[in-house]
Amino acid sequence: MKNYKRYLVTSALPYANGPIHIGHLAGVYIPSDIYVRYLRLKKRDVIWVCGSDEHGVPITLKAKKENISPQEVVDKFHYLNKKSFEDFGISFDIYSRTSNKIHYETASEIFKTINKKNGFEIKTTEQYYDEELNQFLADRYITGTCPHCGNEKAYGDQCEKCGTSLSPTELINPESTISGFKPVLKSTTHWYLPLDKSEEFLREWILEENKNWKTNVYGQCKSWLDTGLKPRAVSRDLDWGVPVPAKNADGKVLYVWFDAPIGYISATKEHTKDWEKYWKSEDTKLVHFIGKDNIVFHCIIFPAILKAEGSYILPDNVPANEFLNLENNKISTSRNWAVWLHEYLKDFENKQDLLRYVLTAFAPETKDNDFTWKDFQTKNNNELVAVLGNFVNRALVLTNKYFKGIVPESTNLLDEDKAILDEINIIKNKVESSIENYRFREALNETMGIARLGNKYLAETEPWKLFKTDIERVKSILYISLQITASLSIMIEPFLPFTAIKLRKFLQINKIEWDNIGEEELIHTGHKISKPSLLFSKIEDSDIQIQIDKLLKTKKDNLKKEQSLVAVKDNINFDDFQKIDIRIAKIIKAEKVAKTKKLLKLIVDTGINQRTIVSGIAEFYKSEEIIGKQVCVLVNLEARKIRGIESEGMILMAKNSDNTLSFISPDSITDNGSQIS
Ligand code: MF3
Ligand code: ZN
Repeated sequence: MKNYKRYLVTSALPYANGPIHIGHLAGVYIPSDIYVRYLRLKKRDVIWVCGSDEHGVPITLKAKKENISPQEVVDKFHYLNKKSFEDFGISFDIYSRTSNKIHYETASEIFKTINKKNGFEIKTTEQYYDEELNQFLADRYITGTCPHCGNEKAYGDQCEKCGTSLSPTELINPESTISGFKPVLKSTTHWYLPLDKSEEFLREWILEENKNWKTNVYGQCKSWLDTGLKPRAVSRDLDWGVPVPAKNADGKVLYVWFDAPIGYISATKEHTKDWEKYWKSEDTKLVHFIGKDNIVFHCIIFPAILKAEGSYILPDNVPANEFLNLENNKISTSRNWAVWLHEYLKDFENKQDLLRYVLTAFAPETKDNDFTWKDFQTKNNNELVAVLGNFVNRALVLTNKYFKGIVPESTNLLDEDKAILDEINIIKNKVESSIENYRFREALNETMGIARLGNKYLAETEPWKLFKTDIERVKSILYISLQITASLSIMIEPFLPFTAIKLRKFLQINKIEWDNIGEEELIHTGHKISKPSLLFSKIEDSDIQIQIDKLLKTKKDNLKKEQSLVAVKDNINFDDFQKIDIRIAKIIKAEKVAKTKKLLKLIVDTGINQRTIVSGIAEFYKSEEIIGKQVCVLVNLEARKIRGIESEGMILMAKNSDNTLSFISPDSITDNGSQIS
């Protein structure tokens, strides 16, 4: 173990082109907030930086779509997201942004230093250019047919069907996803970071010296390193970003993944003059909190950049999390499948800690995990209300009831009372080790162990039965219960900061330090506490039903959108159309086909004859309601047997966005047999 003197904690800079959702919180910001709040309570020297990531192609596309400038896009989301973080008690020391002047300077300086040392390779290559938009296309914005598996929707960097990584020039029939046009090849010059040359150092540093990294992180790094690293372009032809500070670089900016992590450095500079102490001394412990899609950038590319620059430290750890799903579906901004922070607070006013609690309990620390509203309700009602809230409430209410809110004396503590304090100290040590090893779910569960301990203590000692017979004993029990409550008020702070403040207010105490947890006299005899209100309240079925309904509506809206996007079939000529014979027919008999759920057997009058048609509409129409109805029938479809019944033709139905079916009927009574053309 290295002997560190100070901490520098970073959390991934979220893109300023969309709001923050629960996936962001669970994966990155809550874990890092717990970690930093704990370090502060331990009186460690720590700086925690974050900010908006304001460059990259998607931001420019969003701006174009909305007909505003990229700066307007990032301004809007920077302030919205900054506020969301504040609202949820995410306690960054600074929330900066990469469109700041100080960031442009910092990123340029680092680029120039590396350039001066000949740390880049400059290469001219042919790249796809969209003549409609007058811009080069990032690999992700080119699709075409995969040369390996024939998937027509392969991306310029990867085919998601067969998993092969590609370069855009390998695609057959490339197409710009932005304009839909065929791009042309044009030559352009870029600066490349020769990652291949860093491979040896990275292998040694990660695979040998950092075996203690989380297995998901270590594993991903190993697989990148085993595949072999290639030089990566760190510049782009784009007009939004940090201009490349070099000769012959007109119209070129730094690649967003080159400048964004440098944002951590700029933010630290903005926060303190002393920034170099944090970034350039070996006795600083640097920790990057990120999501799994950021691993390669933080473990391989950014360290290679810093190493090439030469004067910066590398991270001690990169505790990346996996992803959080929502009700069994991938969270998606474009599909609006998310719980947005600013919306949550409208429905659950002042219930930040509840969300923090649930997201910590379900944090995707080792594998992807799922958030459901049902779990949300259960965690609240069975744990926050029934365990934590209940214990605190009993301790405080009884003290008010028996002793007018004055902390009683504790003249003869029994062994079982002292054992409680020992137990708290054991839990405290466990929580410390869990937090310092980035196991926050475990730490939360251990912390709740103190409330469980308190409940058990009260249930076993039953002070309410002793008040008349043994007041001295009641004094000791409540004295101990209040000490437990005081310890809790510190220990829950990293997880539930709003509740911690409330609890200290009930207890009428100031903030205590972490190391005081478990002490015998956190609250003194004679001290007056206040009358408590409830720390948590029940979440009713109707509260979560509103949320579930909201998601159902989103699902429906998405289906509708998708349907309108279903590609039109290939063209046919008039002769093809002429082959189809559709006529108006009347349903004259209808009955369910035995032993099936979906099928109705219909007799229809087609004007020419009466015939039998089997149709899969039983889920949407009852036989008795459709008799007499005029519908459209494809009358020259070859007959076929369905469930042993000869079906002669097909009833035409419209498929709705929710996958239900509706008849197509003439808008006024028409002769049976009328041809549709
Ligand atoms: N904006 C990136 C994302 O949301 C994260 C950037 S992290 C930093 O995936 F290191 F670049 F800052
Ligand atoms: Zn493929």
